[in-house]
Formats: sequence, structure tokens, C-alpha cells
Amino acid sequence: MPGDTRRGHKTISDTLSREAPPRRIIWSGIPTCDSKPDERARPQKPSRSSCRYSERNDMSSDPFAAFKDHQREMWASFAPTATFTTPPAAHLVRFAAIAPGDAVLDVGTGTGVVAITAARAGARVNALDLTPALLEGAREHARIAGFPQIDWIEGDAERLPYPDASFDVVLSQFGHIFAPRPEVAIAEMRRVLKPSGRIAFATWPPDRLVGKLFQFIGRNSPQLPPGVPPPVLWGDEAIIRQRLATGFEEPAFERGVMTVPALSLPHYRLFMERSVGPMEKLVARLAGEPERLDAVRREFDEISEPHFADNLVSQEYLLTRAAAKP
Ligand SMILES: C[S@@+](CC[C@H](N)C(=O)[O-])C[C@H]1O[C@@H](n2cnc3c(N)ncnc32)[C@H](O)[C@@H]1O
Repeated sequence: MPGDTRRGHKTISDTLSREAPPRRIIWSGIPTCDSKPDERARPQKPSRSSCRYSERNDMSSDPFAAFKDHQREMWASFAPTATFTTPPAAHLVRFAAIAPGDAVLDVGTGTGVVAITAARAGARVNALDLTPALLEGAREHARIAGFPQIDWIEGDAERLPYPDASFDVVLSQFGHIFAPRPEVAIAEMRRVLKPSGRIAFATWPPDRLVGKLFQFIGRNSPQLPPGVPPPVLWGDEAIIRQRLATGFEEPAFERGVMTVPALSLPHYRLFMERSVGPMEKLVARLAGEPERLDAVRREFDEISEPHFADNLVSQEYLLTRAAAKP
């Protein structure tokens, strides 16, 4: 009889139900502001007052909720591009000087290339992204790479669900730049940093290939909602200085090149049309206007051509690092 211990025999279910559950001793991530006390082993318990985002920026009153829904859908096809964002992730992690034991947050993690690279450097990693389809890929990559302890969460750069002063380093590779209000995203990234912490992120300079392509896509797409600056402004050193001025010390900059193998410019364009949301949407919108679509494709190839050599398209990016002002 199940559960019968009268003859001194214990069933497996008896054993499991009577013994205390095993203690989780692995890193299980900084607890989010919304997690219940018994949901996970927690290194510290967040108090309401240390989770100010929930009072200040409730999603139900988010004026950009529809914009973010659109972003979520737009980035869902990004996974193949992560092959090419993998090498810059290593550059960003090195540039950020991630050390073993650092508590690290990766904002706009996508399929997790930065988060997993930081975990390989010995960091304890939380990672957040708006797009659940990409987080599924991130979990799979973490499992393959042997880092099941990374804490992945669907969330918004403008509303980070972590207590104040949780992290030693906050990273973002081409991620936080898509939050509609740069001042809100950067204030959130600063809030969750420890006073001794630092931020490091990768962006696209407006006068280099991807920056030019984003401006080209912007010229041929519906206007951004009022008050939303183009993401490419995050690639301008002067603007970065202004945006970081309140919460951070003087930033340091470094540049790198992300290469994308391509057999021809049309191969590169086709790849972008299939895997980079803003380009995919532009082409879909022009499906009924073949002449305009041809013209747009010609312009894309003209912009890209100077950056294509030896079967590689070179995309220069900018890295920024800054220490929090205590
Ligand atoms: C160009 S992808 C970069 C992904 C990844 N960091 C990489 O380098 O492969 C941009 C990412 O930002 C995410 N994103 C856009 N807006 C966001 C927001 N408001 N909060 C968090 N993530 C956001 C998208 O879902 C997408 O995963």
C-alpha cells in the first residue's frame, strides 16, 4: 500500500515527502522585486522601498506599452544574427573587466550572448529581455554552454525588476538603445548598480555602416512616437556623455568591428531582411509597392557596398564604460 510504513518499509514517495527539500546552494540570481519570499533561495530580500520602479513606472500606465509590444514582436526573428553578435560580446565582457564573482546584469540580452560570456568569465548573471522568443534560445544556449544557473527574465529596460544596488556591473549590447526613453533606461541601469559599480554597453555610431542603415530604415519607416529619439543617437560620444552625466563618472570609449560573412551584397541584404526586425518590417510594408521596394534595396546596397570586402561586411561598433557616481 503506498505510504504504508507499518512494516518498516519506506516507499520513495514517503522518503521524498518526509525529508526536508534539498537546499539550493547554486547561484539563483538576484531576486526580482515581484518574486515571493519562498520562491527561491535569496541572497537578500528586496524591500518595497528598494523596488521604486513599481511605484514610479507601472506597466499599466506606461505610455509606451504599445511601442514595446511592437518591439517585442519585431525582434522575435533576431536569433540567427546572434552568431555575429557573439564575438563583440566577448569584447564587451573584456572591456567591462568582468571578474569572477561579479554580480552582472545583461539588459536586452536577446539570445544571451553577453550573459553567457560573462558567466564563463566567472560572473553571477541575471539577464533580461523584452522578447520571450529570444529568451527561449538564451536558455537553450545556457544549457549547452553549461550555465543553467543564469537567471533569465522577460522584462523592460525601463522597468528593471531588481532592487536598488543589486549589481557590480550592468551590461547591454545593442539592447538598451531600443528603450524609448533613454533617460528612464539609464536611470534604471544606474539604480540597480551598487555605488561602486560600473556600466558598459555597445552601440552603433551614426556615421558607420549600421548607424547609417538604421537612419536609412528610419527615413523609410513610420515616424517614431513623439519624444522617442532614434536609437542610433546612443552611438554618438557627445550624446552618451550628456546622458551619463548625472549618474556616472566620465566614460571611456573603445571601438571594434563586427564582421558578417556574405557571398554578395544581396546575400547580406537578404540576411538583414530575414533576421533584423526593423529591416524585415520595412520590406514587409513595401510588399505592395515593387518599384519603391527596388529603390530601397538599391539604396541599401549602395550604403553597404564600401563596407564589403573579402566576403565580409564590416560593421564598426562603439563600446562605452563608465563608473557609477557614488
Ligand atoms: C539587436 S538585439 C541585441 C540582442 C543581444 N544583446 C545581442 O547582442 O545579440 C536588441 C534586443 O533588445 C531587446 N529590447 C528592445 N527593447 C527592449 C526593452 N525596452 N527592454 C529590454 N529589452 C529590449 C530586443 O528584444 C532584442 O533582444
